[in-house]
Amino acid sequence: MKIAIGSDHAGYRLKKYVLEYLNEHKIEYKDYGTYDEASCDYPDYALTVAEAVAAKEYDFGILICGTGIGIGIAANKVPGVRAALCHDTFSAHACRQHNNANILTMGERIVGPGLAVDIVDAFLNAKFEGDRHTRRLNKITEIEKKYNK
Ligand code: RB5
Repeated sequence: MKIAIGSDHAGYRLKKYVLEYLNEHKIEYKDYGTYDEASCDYPDYALTVAEAVAAKEYDFGILICGTGIGIGIAANKVPGVRAALCHDTFSAHACRQHNNANILTMGERIVGPGLAVDIVDAFLNAKFEGDRHTRRLNKITEIEKKYNK
């Protein structure tokens, strides 16, 4: 499994805990930045990670900002991306099982490192259930196509 990960300055410290988890579990990843706490713009990191995930260079992406909201809104502009904001473990596995989410977003100002790592674990270990959910995802793709002519 290969992961693309990124954050802005407000997600930088939480990202370090997630990187520790990935290292401990020997999960391959590329960290697209940011690499310090200097103020920066979350859409820049959303775009690089989202494009890499949409191009299927990685199985999943993880994006962290202060709330997880802005970075997720930006990532979801890239066709093929299904970024899910999760601050609980139920959402983290449900967004994989039902929505086939390919990017997890979280907010450092919302969750502590212990919960964040559990959320990552739930997300990475859940499987898409297909079936009726595929029909619904196809409808999302149709919406995307309608507006990306
Ligand atoms: C940065 O201050 C903050 O606005 C950003 O990290 C994020 O929370 C935006 O949604």
